Amino acid sequence: MKKLLLLIMSSLMIFSLTASSSNNTINSTVFPKQAAASVTDKDTASSAKTLEDKAANSKGKKILVAYFSHSGNTRRAAEQIHNLVGGDMHEIKTVTAYPTGYDESVEVAKKEKETNARPALSTKVNNMANYDVIFIGYPIWWHTAPMPIYTFLEAYDLSGKTVIPFCTSYSSDIAESMDAIKSLCPNATILEGLTANDANKIEPWLTRLNG
Ligand SMILES: Cc1cc2nc3c(=O)[nH]c(=O)nc-3n(C[C@H](O)[C@H](O)[C@H](O)COP(=O)(O)O)c2cc1C
Repeated sequence: MKKLLLLIMSSLMIFSLTASSSNNTINSTVFPKQAAASVTDKDTASSAKTLEDKAANSKGKKILVAYFSHSGNTRRAAEQIHNLVGGDMHEIKTVTAYPTGYDESVEVAKKEKETNARPALSTKVNNMANYDVIFIGYPIWWHTAPMPIYTFLEAYDLSGKTVIPFCTSYSSDIAESMDAIKSLCPNATILEGLTANDANKIEPWLTRLNG
């Protein structure tokens, strides 16, 4: 019983330490912590904004966490980033869904890469001009970003914006996709990307980016 009590108390201490470090670190210039807005699929512009959100965004830089995820790993990383930095979230979705089976999706993605395809997207950001900082998340597919990321980044003028890539993968590093991201956002400032396979690396990375 004593042991159980000790375990619960130490878990609570760890939780409160983690929570307080979140509040202390994400507060400087690259992406000051903003109130989180609701997630919308079809149109980020239509996300219901709270007064708190509007106030935070008018003071600081406006953040968008955009991501593509086939099986949920990158979505989880995106949600964790969004929880820490706030702003808006946008899911990049394709008109034609990828097969759910691994082998089948690998084949479709391979063909898309070989043909330099631009799969049509069913979601879009209507107010991209309003954002200053764009996190862009994706799984590594065939040692680079999936082709829907190409479609997405080519659809907007990201000149002068700060783009921050993150990915999940089986073993590949985000470095494998950085040349593609750089060529797709030629006039943006691209910050250090993260291979976000280990959720524990997300917060230290954000702290590092904020200097
Ligand atoms: C089509 C396809 C290609 C992949 N290519 C790679 C790869 O080149 N390197 C790697 O480490 N993982 C690769 N993976 C594994 C995914 O990057 C990894 O499972 C990722 O976390 C999936 O993210 P998601 O759940 O957000 O879709 C590939 C997976 C798929 C479906």
